[in-house]
Amino acid sequence: MSHATIAIPLQALRSGPLTGTIRVPGDKSISHRALMLGAIATGRTRIIGLLEAEDVINTAKAVTALGSPAGKTGSTWEVLGRGVGGLTQPQGDLEFGNSGTGTRLMMGLVSGYDIQVRMTGDASLSRRPMRRVLDPLKQMGVRVDDDKETLPLTLRGTSDLLPIEYVTPVPSAQVKSAVLLAGLSAAGETTVIEREATRDHSERMLRYFGADVRCSRRDGRNVITVGGDAELSGRDVVVPGDPSSAAFIVAAALVVPKSEVTIEGVLVNETRTGFYKTLRDMGADIAFLNERNEGGEPIADIRVRHSALKGVRVPPERAPSMIDEYPVLAALSAYADGEIRMEGLAELKVKESDRLAATAAGLLANGASAKVEGDTLIVAGRRGVKGGGTVATHMDHRIAMAFLVMGLGSDRPVAVDDVTYVSTSFPEFRGLMEQLGAGFAAPGA
Ligand code: S3P
Repeated sequence: MSHATIAIPLQALRSGPLTGTIRVPGDKSISHRALMLGAIATGRTRIIGLLEAEDVINTAKAVTALGSPAGKTGSTWEVLGRGVGGLTQPQGDLEFGNSGTGTRLMMGLVSGYDIQVRMTGDASLSRRPMRRVLDPLKQMGVRVDDDKETLPLTLRGTSDLLPIEYVTPVPSAQVKSAVLLAGLSAAGETTVIEREATRDHSERMLRYFGADVRCSRRDGRNVITVGGDAELSGRDVVVPGDPSSAAFIVAAALVVPKSEVTIEGVLVNETRTGFYKTLRDMGADIAFLNERNEGGEPIADIRVRHSALKGVRVPPERAPSMIDEYPVLAALSAYADGEIRMEGLAELKVKESDRLAATAAGLLANGASAKVEGDTLIVAGRRGVKGGGTVATHMDHRIAMAFLVMGLGSDRPVAVDDVTYVSTSFPEFRGLMEQLGAGFAAPGA
């Protein structure tokens, strides 16, 4: 799948109450991992609820090109795994589109093979830093043509991969996961130490597929060790709803008065729920109902009712558990009464766009307040938004969705310059929102 080169603008209109019960598509992080682990497990992996969005489809194509075909039969995705050691030289480039997760995890996955893999991405992905992943992989024995640190690049793996102990310099589940995936093929134990806990789906799923993974705490840090020369077996995976997609719907219900929405079957793993914790601190009426476990992950039905929101400080240590939710939190904050101070946002600058700058600009373009002080974003909530502006989305799905949500309660419509990238993570966004009562229109229509 590739993007039309033509941008499609859209505006959000002030809407009546949002009501109803819905489901959101499968979690993006878990979907990537299910395809990749399926590819190196022995036998068939069946995946129910795989996110069928461009980022994940690119990963499915990549594992297919590496010799482990992934495809859909009925409503179930299947990957025919070749076993650890079974990936083969792909014929063409692996194209990752907009996806940092697909790219970085794949770098780890292919590291332990005597193959060379050329990886490409779109303009946004080609600007994003890869060194954070390539540094530890090079320590393990990987080589990169011309020592490139951005896509396009060619990675040369080796079947003589060395195990390492690596302290991640940035809080990043992608870096952690890349090293662990590489470690599966190394001769010995590979350890990743992280100062701040990041999402732990790789650890959980690796264990579920039969890998030897041990997690402990040392001096306040997370220590994760994976055994090398691993053997994984194909499994059935049920992908829960993506809490990062649900966040847009929850925020919309908090923007539009009298709303009440329930989202069923959402992942509520604590490494992902910082946004929901923050909303509770702000006074939002949010409940996790029917909490249960599915496929090694906790899930719940999330019920949200429109609520008056107050200002809060969001501490930096919470950032990893809500890293993808800051744009929508900032958009929502304009409707609160008081100052929302979001600290420790350095990583936002290297996402699909510089989200710190893009978020502040989107707020200012619509008459809301926003101030960036170093790595801190401050929004002075004034219980409403004027609107009337157009937001530059910079090829970033979450910037587009965050500001469309903001426009559902603003005096005048909020426009975004391009909604095409929404399909990288949440193609059903507009349809689901309309089903709940949200209004959108082409600008000028
Ligand atoms: C992801 C980790 C996060 C997140 C991304 C998905 C993952 O990135 O922003 O959307 O699936 O591991 P970092 O680990 O680089 O912070």
